Amino acid sequence: SSVVEEQLDPFSLVADDLLILTNRLRSMVVAEIPKLADAMEYFLKMGVEGKRFRPTILLLMARALNVPMARRPPDAVVDTLSMESRPSIAEIAEMIHVASRLHDGVMDGADTTRGIASLNFVMGNKLALLTGDLLLSRAYVEISSLKNTEVLSVMGAVVEHLVTGETMQVTATSDQRSSMEYYMQKTYYKRASLISNSCKAISILAGHTAEVSRLACEYGKNLGLAYQLINDVIDFMGTSTSPGKGSLSDIRRGIITAPILFSMEEFPELRAIIDQGFDDSANVDHALEYLGKSCGIERTRELAMKHARLALYAIDSFPENNDDDVRISRRGLVELTERVITR
Ligand code: FPP
Ligand code: MG
Ligand code: MG
Repeated sequence: SSVVEEQLDPFSLVADDLLILTNRLRSMVVAEIPKLADAMEYFLKMGVEGKRFRPTILLLMARALNVPMARRPPDAVVDTLSMESRPSIAEIAEMIHVASRLHDGVMDGADTTRGIASLNFVMGNKLALLTGDLLLSRAYVEISSLKNTEVLSVMGAVVEHLVTGETMQVTATSDQRSSMEYYMQKTYYKRASLISNSCKAISILAGHTAEVSRLACEYGKNLGLAYQLINDVIDFMGTSTSPGKGSLSDIRRGIITAPILFSMEEFPELRAIIDQGFDDSANVDHALEYLGKSCGIERTRELAMKHARLALYAIDSFPENNDDDVRISRRGLVELTERVITR
């Protein structure tokens, strides 16, 4: 039986690559001033000790799109020799991600981020902002070392998207807060653009055609959207690992997500409650009642599954390849997609 047909654990597939990534990131936390070095250390906690979904996807994508040696143009052989010292897109994406998290902590006045005390809480807003800036700057110095202007502009768009999505969230009018279209656009900018454009950059670096790069981009985008839609559901319902009620953190902060937007299509009365805001917890309860009566959760799950199918379709459409490692990595990406929607 083919090794490709075995049950795969995507995370253990990239265990070695993750170790290299962690070590490279560790070597990057040096800074001239001790306070700043301490703050940078923090970035390791946030970047490499989490669920590792994002780096795993990107490391698998790099292998899934690896151009077999025999088919590489002759000068690419030289490139391969210097591969070890080249930063990976996975590593660069983590730096951009953590930079945005540090700034987000300040924007939200958050005391925790994903279960750990946030840097703004520990060292203050000023240092959190400055550390975010430093990380962002380092990320782009790393990108420039790849000497590929297309990759530079693809990854450059990500920061603009993060800023745009965040601005859309904080400036939304009443009509925009109640619009599914606005919500999905904002979600793409905030949650899917980084993974999507990173997948695209990986494809470009591997020397693939524009069509393959488009497919890589589609995979990342749809996976990112599916991931966030499931997050929206989990916030209301809890997870398989922590059953029961979700933390309701979105709605309590007045952030309207897909389940509520779908409910509102069935119960337009919900709009008045949304417009009043959720400072009063009675409004939260009221909105939850409507949510319970509606198909909001189900329809959000269905939308997530639609995007997951589009992601799988993109992987399926990659050009044929008989290399075992390439095929196993593609299976890993498929498996990851399934895990995203069955969390
Ligand atoms: C989390 O959203 C926030 C983001 C994913 C992006 C934040 C982007 C900025 C603050 C713009 C600056 C960007 C850079 C690169 C410096 P959330 O707060 O709605 O959700 P969560 O914190 O509960 O996950
Ligand atoms: Mg936040
Ligand atoms: Mg925020």
